[in-house]
Amino acid sequence: MIRRDRDRGDRMDGADSPGSVGRGRRLAASAAEAIGETPLVDLARLARDSGGRVLAKLEMLNPGLSKKDRMARRILEDAVASGDLQPGQPVVELTSGNAGMGAAIVCCVQQRPFIAVMSQGNSVERARMMQTVGAEVILVPQAPGSQPGQVSGADLALVETRARQVTAERGAFRLDQFLRAGNARAYEDVALEIWEASGGAVTAFCDFVGSGGTFAGLSAGFARLDPRIRGYVVEPAGAAVLAGRPVTDPGHRLQGGGYSMAELPLLAGARPAGYLQVTDAEAIGAARRLAREEGVVGGFSTGANLAAALQLLAGPEAGGVIAIMACDSGLKYLSTDLWD
Ligand SMILES: Cc1ncc(COP(=O)(O)O)c(C=O)c1O
Repeated sequence: MIRRDRDRGDRMDGADSPGSVGRGRRLAASAAEAIGETPLVDLARLARDSGGRVLAKLEMLNPGLSKKDRMARRILEDAVASGDLQPGQPVVELTSGNAGMGAAIVCCVQQRPFIAVMSQGNSVERARMMQTVGAEVILVPQAPGSQPGQVSGADLALVETRARQVTAERGAFRLDQFLRAGNARAYEDVALEIWEASGGAVTAFCDFVGSGGTFAGLSAGFARLDPRIRGYVVEPAGAAVLAGRPVTDPGHRLQGGGYSMAELPLLAGARPAGYLQVTDAEAIGAARRLAREEGVVGGFSTGANLAAALQLLAGPEAGGVIAIMACDSGLKYLSTDLWD
């Protein structure tokens, strides 16, 4: 047993041993420092007959189990550096999930209160997860006529009003992920990580848009590395407003994005090569294939990105190498119909 362990250690010691991952090889001073440098995985089994390659960035391996940890760390560290966020000052965000978990972890490490303001219509697991790392969760009752489990625009308006009140009452810093440039900047690093891990092989990427931070950051990052790399926006088939289409189904199941917001401030400077649409069924089918054929357990938006990447290989990016984000862990959706 001892000898086997040592043998394995010897093999892994080579600085360039295949499959090595940077962050596993150094001591992180905190969970916040352990965010990022996620593995890039070649989905070679799943993409076997696609005529190209799909490379997936396993963002569910961040401490908060999603890519949004990067956004939270970047915005909060920038705010500390600029003096906008003082020691011990509370942070508030309107959130239903991943952004809140990322902020809760970074605030835990920075030893400051984090207050998540969310609708009572969100699932109870989301609140519990943030509470495990010390977040305070303020639940806002739903608007009359709203359904538990479905957060409507009217519900969100109530949550926004409460979040503003709480921010003022507590003298807090608002994370404001839809507006702050740090959200996009956090994902410029991801482009570099993908570039390095793939040996510069990437020819295109596609990304399911929520705030637009990931798409904008990847676009800027890849543009600096190789301006020929094309970026495609991914949207729900019934809510493709960025593509200029009418909203026919705002009630899609692709959590984390597809908010039917035609104007996203963070996308202002981005120049997508094109727009792709994915149905709920296509995203769910792709997430299931990813789990069964590659052993990668992602959520709805991961499935959307994969389905869109396969569309690209069957169309405008035939023969290419497509990078996608595996945005969060499929474990966050065990209570939904993502898994049969
Ligand atoms: C699971 C998941 N997928 C996709 C997105 C969209 O990412 P972005 O806000 O960077 O556009 C989010 C954002 O919260 C998310 O939580």
